[in-house]
Amino acid sequence: MSQNHNIAVVYRSKTGFTKNYANWLAEEFKCDLLEGEKVKASDLAKYQTIIYGGGMYAIGINGIKLITKNYRILKDKKLIVFSVGATPVRNATTEEIRKANIPAVMLDKIHFFYLRGGFDYSRLSPFHKFLMTLMKIKLKRMKNPDADAKGMLASYTHPLDFTNKKYIAPIVKCVKE
Ligand SMILES: Cc1cc2nc3c(=O)[nH]c(=O)nc-3n(C[C@H](O)[C@H](O)[C@H](O)COP(=O)(O)O)c2cc1C
Repeated sequence: MSQNHNIAVVYRSKTGFTKNYANWLAEEFKCDLLEGEKVKASDLAKYQTIIYGGGMYAIGINGIKLITKNYRILKDKKLIVFSVGATPVRNATTEEIRKANIPAVMLDKIHFFYLRGGFDYSRLSPFHKFLMTLMKIKLKRMKNPDADAKGMLASYTHPLDFTNKKYIAPIVKCVKE
């Protein structure tokens, strides 16, 4: 099959988890794969479908503004956003992230998916290492830590990777619909 130039997968990934999903999607569609940091809205004009993926950082989707700030010029395209975080997939969490990151007027038009990534402390920048050390202190002080908190604490020494190609299936379906 020849390269599909109608679809672009654009991503921003600090520690590689979103990049895994972006690679699998680009492989699936044999389409262009672009690094969000280097992309301008004008580079996206030629595509009919744009799949944007970004890691979760304090409820925010890394780089999502490329889509939301340029919505006026992108709105006639098929727009899909996926975010990748350490939190397990739950409907309520997905909805919370969707509403916090996609302005209300765009909610009907932008298809949203949340996929589970992982956590790798060793690959964080010094700034994020500092932030996560503060979080570790908070987690350690919890009187009755739940399973999520315990898992998070353990991941500081043993990196977690929940990424799996099978989780791109709903996005693939959405592109094809
Ligand atoms: C400072 C910081 C804040 C984070 N905030 C969230 C969050 O709000 N929700 C979440 O699910 N994961 C959060 N994470 C975990 C990352 O989203 C997770 O490791 C993700 O897989 C990173 O993807 P990336 O490597 O593609 O950037 C945070 C990580 C750091 C370092």
